Amino acid sequence: MRVAELFAGVGGFRLGLETASPGFLTSFSSQWEPPGSAGKQFASRCYEAHFGSDGHFNEDIEKVLDRVDSGDLDLGRIDVLVGGFPCQDYSVAKPLNQSDGIAGKKGVLWWQIHRLLTLQGRSGHFPEWVFLENVDRLLKSPATQRGRDFAIMLASLSDLGYDVEWRVVNAADYGFPQRRRRVFIVGQRRKQPVVDGTRMVFRDGVLARAFPVLNDKVSESFEGPHIVLKGELSQITREFGVGVVQSTFLSAGFVSNRRVWTFGPKPAQPTERAVLDDVLVEEHLVPREFFVAEASLTKWKYLKGSKNEPRVHRSGGRYFYTEGALPFPDPADRPARTILTSEGGSAPSRSKHIVATSDGRYRRLLPLELERLNGFMDDWTDTGMTDNQRAFCMGNALVVGLVEKVARVIAKDSGLTLRRKNKRKVARRSMR
Ligand SMILES: C[S@@+](CC[C@H](N)C(=O)[O-])C[C@H]1O[C@@H](n2cnc3c(N)ncnc32)[C@H](O)[C@@H]1O
Repeated sequence: MRVAELFAGVGGFRLGLETASPGFLTSFSSQWEPPGSAGKQFASRCYEAHFGSDGHFNEDIEKVLDRVDSGDLDLGRIDVLVGGFPCQDYSVAKPLNQSDGIAGKKGVLWWQIHRLLTLQGRSGHFPEWVFLENVDRLLKSPATQRGRDFAIMLASLSDLGYDVEWRVVNAADYGFPQRRRRVFIVGQRRKQPVVDGTRMVFRDGVLARAFPVLNDKVSESFEGPHIVLKGELSQITREFGVGVVQSTFLSAGFVSNRRVWTFGPKPAQPTERAVLDDVLVEEHLVPREFFVAEASLTKWKYLKGSKNEPRVHRSGGRYFYTEGALPFPDPADRPARTILTSEGGSAPSRSKHIVATSDGRYRRLLPLELERLNGFMDDWTDTGMTDNQRAFCMGNALVVGLVEKVARVIAKDSGLTLRRKNKRKVARRSMR
């Protein structure tokens, strides 16, 4: 199956797909860090270092698709479209003009995914599968109209002829050493409208098979859809979620023909558990600059600690700032917290991970340990980047093993050969 990987970063989707099956062949990939300066293209260079330059575009996706649209560039058939795209405002100012291929707001990257699907459809071959990843905030945004952006996304995919499933997955619930919560979205060309979305969410859907949940709903009597997404996208933009406190969209769901079922299923008990300690290297391998200097320890502890203190706003107003404590150091016997793009660098911070060493010191995580938390091979990003850039890439990336789980189900449904499961119970042990 020919794969297009958009917003490719350092290639988490491609790695996950290729680990699942040799039948996934990425024929087109796109990765470009705005505003486009050469110094910012480190993720793209990493991608090319691993996968080569064939079919890879280190260029704004909008410009690439302009060329496809004008007929100057032919991407050929695409069977699977994958990508982890930024969560932005998806509103549409005016009705979509499908025939012109004009999608919503300029610069909003969701519409480039929509556009590529539309362009492929125009050339006679819609991709069979769409497989996307995003922050779970997508289900709720924007704050002023809870769930509106996701409603627009679901309705527009539905209108293009896709049935769509989504699931918020915490990687730690499925045996990975990081508590990274992301929403996975899988669309497949609609064959006939599904009438029982409950079964899709709890048992039969791709995501239900990739990430088993406690299957307590399926035997209950049939439930009709919870909502139907009605009206033009511009109407959804204006009206969806107005005055609503909580998003309509729960952590899992299924959409067919704009009819939406949504539930909050619980993950089935994990058969495996991995923790931060599993990815740590031996202390003597840790370069000196990763240890926390004695002088900055107080600052680290303050930032990690709970706060309940008066502060003055820039405008001069006074307010009380409160936040809870984060564990300091991070417990090595639990899965790690989510890696953010700001994880790199020695400056004290609330969100960076800190682990204790056996001699009572503290240290930050190495890029290699961050790679392991996401399930990349050791030194995947050691392709000429600084340590900060490597950490940034891991903050942007996804847990490769989660992609692999979904890709296995897609591969099986599509009749592709599966690779043998490789228990990469990393790390530490192999270095010891
Ligand atoms: C969330 S990251 C995806 C990370 C990826 N899944 C991985 O495993 O590394 C989104 C990526 O989209 C890229 N991007 C942002 N705007 C873009 C554009 N206009 N064209 C192409 N890529 C873009 C960013 O540079 C970033 O690497």
